[in-house]
Amino acid sequence: MQIRDLGELEGKLLLFGGPYSNIQALDALMQWADDAGIPPERRICTGDVVAYGANPRACVRLVQRLGVPVVAGNCEKNLAEGAEDCGCGYEKGTACAALAKDWYDYAQRRIKPAEREWMAALPDRLTFRHAGKRHVVIHGGAGDISRFLWPISFEDDFWHEISLLQEEVGAIDVVIAGHCGVPFERNIDGVHWINPGAIGLPPHDGLPETCFATLSEDGEITLERLEYDVKGAVAAMHAVGLTQGYDKALQSGYWPSEDVLPKAMRRKGG
Ligand SMILES: [Fe+2]
Repeated sequence: MQIRDLGELEGKLLLFGGPYSNIQALDALMQWADDAGIPPERRICTGDVVAYGANPRACVRLVQRLGVPVVAGNCEKNLAEGAEDCGCGYEKGTACAALAKDWYDYAQRRIKPAEREWMAALPDRLTFRHAGKRHVVIHGGAGDISRFLWPISFEDDFWHEISLLQEEVGAIDVVIAGHCGVPFERNIDGVHWINPGAIGLPPHDGLPETCFATLSEDGEITLERLEYDVKGAVAAMHAVGLTQGYDKALQSGYWPSEDVLPKAMRRKGG
């Protein structure tokens, strides 16, 4: 368990997750942050820099070069170990598991030893203070990096994770999490749980724009949508044979499989 403390952060923060090897989206977000005057050390990433898209190395190198604080996602953990699959938590035999094999094998071939070392060295938690509150950044759950916590998950499920985190890092006011790919915020008995969503894939709502969030200097959260070069990202996927469904999802705004989603969050008839 590696915990990295970023100390006291002042000013506006960018919160984002899931670049997913989508360099067009990551480039657009970094440009957005430049324009907003948010320096790289205040751009907080919840992990899964590498996943479905065409440019895993370019994404890793960009966050490395900028020095963006990143917690390890399940994709980084598993690529660092040379594991056989992404460890996303999909059940065997589901459409998600079958779809994951193609992009994971592709990323596995592309990633170089130096990038695996970088992934292996990523912290499991980031902590910082901002606007008088103590924040902790995780990927999925505290006990299980691949735990899916959805906007509609039970309050007890969130409390379980918050209790584990408080055992690890002490009192916390805000949890910033990733992994599920859907942005939301919940207030869990005084602890603010924020998932800024993913920038590399839209959140299954029929729009191609992806998601991120900002925290104002006073700690106010705003969930945002990211416009970027979707056509370029799709063309890059097609050029390397990534045509198993995530390419279409970038344009349609709908995931190629709903297996992973709670039933209440699936499209009618989906
Ligand atoms: Fe993940």
